[in-house]
Amino acid sequence: MKKFVSSTQSVPDSSAVPRHVAIIMDGNGRWARSRLLPRIAGHKRGGEAVRAIVRAAAERGIEYLTVFAFSSENWRRPAEEVSLLMQLFLNALQQEVRELHENGIRFRVVGDVSRFDRKIVELIEAGEQLTASNQRLTLTIAANYGGRWDVVQAMQRLLAEQPQRAAELAEADLAPYLSMHYAPEPDLFIRTGGEQRISNFLLWQLAYSELYFTDTLWPDFDARALDVAIQWYQQRERRFGRTSEQVAEQRGRAKASKTVVGG
Ligand code: IPE
Ligand code: IPE
Ligand code: MG
Repeated sequence: MKKFVSSTQSVPDSSAVPRHVAIIMDGNGRWARSRLLPRIAGHKRGGEAVRAIVRAAAERGIEYLTVFAFSSENWRRPAEEVSLLMQLFLNALQQEVRELHENGIRFRVVGDVSRFDRKIVELIEAGEQLTASNQRLTLTIAANYGGRWDVVQAMQRLLAEQPQRAAELAEADLAPYLSMHYAPEPDLFIRTGGEQRISNFLLWQLAYSELYFTDTLWPDFDARALDVAIQWYQQRERRFGRTSEQVAEQRGRAKASKTVVGG
């Protein structure tokens, strides 16, 4: 399996198109309320937006797309909304996984799925197996996910397997146990719906991500809106702790070596 070095350990390569985009899809409820519709109507439209963004991400050469569908805190919502969200998730698993597979998309779920119905867990496992060798885009759904849960479960598994490491634990020891160990850290983080917070999403992995916030509500977020976010990302100077001059020098060196290779 590919191993990714963390941005706090060494400087990752930057590319024009973000390799990994992670999204907090927020604003479904407000989208519905502004149309005098029940909240669940917003979640349904939100599901359609996911389909469109998955397609657009694959077309743009993004390698990893991670979307926050249900947080470990979302159980606090009214029971009826939680139950309708579970129903929507179940329907999506039944209806969409085949098409993902036909499009070469790998499907994965991160989060504590043990709290979901058995039927949902079975469909997740089947979908992950079916799409396991797909290479085009890895779509990760974060469901009953919490960033703090992720760090704690990683620590528990690490210490169960390698108790002798406790005294000299390093960042790189923990990384393989985090639930998104198979992906590089997000280059671009997007949150729709106007709030500027992380809401317990990928806490560890967002250490050096570029953070993009938009007032657009998730059901209205489309391929054009994704392009605006990518263009914003492309204007950022990713320094990873270094100075601007060092970054410019490195860019110059990379350009020069390309010119030599190209003749
Ligand atoms: C995000 O939309 C979807 C989930 C959290 C499941 P919200 O449901 O949070 O929408 P708002 O924030 O109430 O508008
Ligand atoms: C974050 O949205 C979780 C998901 C999008 C699944 P919330 O709407 O639950 O976040 P808060 O509670 O407003 O921070
Ligand atoms: Mg919200």
